[in-house]
Amino acid sequence: MKKKLAHLALAAVLAGSAFTASGAVDEDFMRNVEDTFKSADSAIGLKDAKTATADARELEKMFKEVVDHYVKKGDAEEGVKLSEKSIALSTKIVTTVAANDFDSAAAASAELGRACKTCHNVYKQD
Ligand code: HEC
Repeated sequence: MKKKLAHLALAAVLAGSAFTASGAVDEDFMRNVEDTFKSADSAIGLKDAKTATADARELEKMFKEVVDHYVKKGDAEEGVKLSEKSIALSTKIVTTVAANDFDSAAAASAELGRACKTCHNVYKQD
């Protein structure tokens, strides 16, 4: 119950933002992840700190949903690990951009791109 309330609160906070906190890692959710990731990556290239920070914060939230998803799913250690890594890399983008270190932000973004692929190799069926 407590968890559900927290989830509703999160959904309320995020209402009006680009994605809805459904808790499901599905195609719509992932397309939002991809759009946000691409936007962050190009903002880093343009040294647009404001956009890069907003997008990376959004990615942190989305990957928290992904962690929840794999924790609930159970027996998905790799999914939990990779989504936690993705949160950490999103945070790294925020902190490096704040330090005006766009080279490190670009490196974190590239690493995040690899984490996407690693997880897809394990969990995404085509
Ligand atoms: C921890 C696991 C995990 C991580 C990390 C992850 N994804 Fe995904 N992704 C998935 C799964 C699972 C699917 C399949 C979802 C489905 O089809 O229901 C998917 C599907 C996708 C799709 C296909 C959606 C479609 O139209 O079918 C895109 C695009 C995508 N992810 C982008 C990304 C990007 C960009 C990142 C990194 C910034 C990322 N993902 C990180 C698990 C992950």
